[in-house]
Amino acid sequence: MAFSQQFLDELTARSDIVDVVSTYVQLTRKGSNYFGLCPFHSEKTGSFSVSPDKQIYYCFGCKKGGGVINFIMEEENLSFRDAVAFLAKRANLELPEEEDGDKEAGRRRQRLLDLNRSAAQFYYETLHSPQGAAVAEYLQRRKISRRTATNFGLGASVDSWDSLLTAMLQKGFTKAELLAAGLVVQNRQGRLYDKFRNRLMFPVIDVRGDVVAFGGRVLDKSEPKYMNTSETMVYSKRRVLYGMNLAKKTKRSNIILCEGNIDVITLHQAGFDNAVASMGTALTTEQIRLLSRYTKELVLCYDNDDAGKAATQKAIDLLNNSEFSVKVLQLPRRLVDGQYVKQDVDDFIKFQGREAFEALLTGSENHIEFRMDAVAAKYDLTDDRQRVAYAEEISSVIASLSSAVEREVYAGRAAERAGLSKEAMELEVKRAFKKRAGQERRQQERASLNPAAQLQPKDRSSRYTDVRSAMAEEGVLRLLTRDDSLFALCPQLQPEEFSSSLLGKIYSILLRCHQEGSQPSPALLSQELEREEMDHFTGLLQKPESMANSRQALADYIRIIQDSCRARSGAQECDPLLAAQEKYKAKKGYGGKQQ
Ligand code: CTP
Ligand code: MN
Repeated sequence: MAFSQQFLDELTARSDIVDVVSTYVQLTRKGSNYFGLCPFHSEKTGSFSVSPDKQIYYCFGCKKGGGVINFIMEEENLSFRDAVAFLAKRANLELPEEEDGDKEAGRRRQRLLDLNRSAAQFYYETLHSPQGAAVAEYLQRRKISRRTATNFGLGASVDSWDSLLTAMLQKGFTKAELLAAGLVVQNRQGRLYDKFRNRLMFPVIDVRGDVVAFGGRVLDKSEPKYMNTSETMVYSKRRVLYGMNLAKKTKRSNIILCEGNIDVITLHQAGFDNAVASMGTALTTEQIRLLSRYTKELVLCYDNDDAGKAATQKAIDLLNNSEFSVKVLQLPRRLVDGQYVKQDVDDFIKFQGREAFEALLTGSENHIEFRMDAVAAKYDLTDDRQRVAYAEEISSVIASLSSAVEREVYAGRAAERAGLSKEAMELEVKRAFKKRAGQERRQQERASLNPAAQLQPKDRSSRYTDVRSAMAEEGVLRLLTRDDSLFALCPQLQPEEFSSSLLGKIYSILLRCHQEGSQPSPALLSQELEREEMDHFTGLLQKPESMANSRQALADYIRIIQDSCRARSGAQECDPLLAAQEKYKAKKGYGGKQQ
């Protein structure tokens, strides 16, 4: 996919980064830059900066950065192409006719979406045909009405190796498309067969209404219980929540997050049309951003087993200090034959009913109560020694609250629970709070004293192996972006001499722009770099670089890079195997893993 530089320049000229960012983030001017609270991670003091001169943003906290297009990609959860289209619309600019390559990629995506839709239709029709009887019976057993099933587009895959395959081929889709959509798989002999067989089918529909993937559940106790589409050109599971296409229309103020597909369906059927599921995996930051477009109030409602509790804790950590208010709805265990057993939302609604759930929902605790309960459960509070340990542990939980009033209220509750005096508990919390503040400060100091760790790109695959050379390489990139007349001084420096393939790749883009007589804009770079690469590049541009002695500095950097390169290749010549391996990697070019 490629837009011409001319178009991108026009677009970015009409999309001032301060204007665009201001519609999402409240910015305050400080010197030549603007600052605000980072929209990409949760924070209380602003580390998010926008430079009107360079037309870039950068967060010193989470280290995300880039130009205006990257900002829209992150904030609106869009691909590069869609972010360009988004900004073009905003700027009243017509998108140029797509080139063949782009058209082709867009067309292939659309074909996969069409195929998924056809497959969903096929599974749906199967469910309502005699062949779908077993699945229909299963739905009855799980008390899912026909109306609800239709609302979610549920379907049936039959016990056959090729019924979907045949039907879709007949509709004109190709084998390659079926494979790319993850609907069929290929065995070792090269034979294709349906991935989903004899299962209740759940189409996964995104907020735009496209069918992006499928989940399929077995009808008995066999394994695996669920099968899901793996990542495809149109599906990234980190970015999708099951049921969000419906929940986004809810009139309720919050969104309920649960674990399973059936939990979501049961909740909707019971009138809780604000339920979504992360489909058994841990909540991701991308999903949180998706949620934030629709609500600022979340209710976590995971299963009440150990795995569910751990997932709750993880989600709380991820949402900690965010703009969301987070509550935890704890499902009680259920007494069966004198034994307490775990239950999920689906069980709860079935056995206790919707009113009981509504009551739990209104009374659901905030996350601190959930954590305090978890601590209390670990100790026998009738035992003096254990009470002391309890007081210590619970005070560190309470100390994590940033509001002094809240700390006081919860200290009181924790004291009451263990039969301790409120004053003693408050003292303990104060001590824990101080200790915590000290720890945080020391951690920050350590981080700033350990620049080596900070220097590294976040993406593991592009870690610097030769830090000294990489620092010089960064310096070269900084100098060249600030003053491209300096290119005249480095004709002999080759991208291949860079120790970091990422920095070498950026250098080669800058070099190409220079040779073509154009300016390397953030827009152009974001077209050619991956997100993490752009984050890292924006980050290294933030570091100070004196332009006073730029010619000398550049010459020094080049010397370091070339010396290190010679040293590396010298070392490899001693080891023919390594040298051959390097050569092979060099032939394969940039991208991929760091040597
Ligand atoms: N899951 C999965 N693969 C599995 C098991 C589970 O993808 N092998 C996902 C499914 O999305 C499932 C969710 O994790 O809905 C929660 O799993 P679990 O609690 O085991 O299932 P339930 O939702 O309770 O499903 P059911 O009520 O149908 O047994
Ligand atoms: Mn269940």
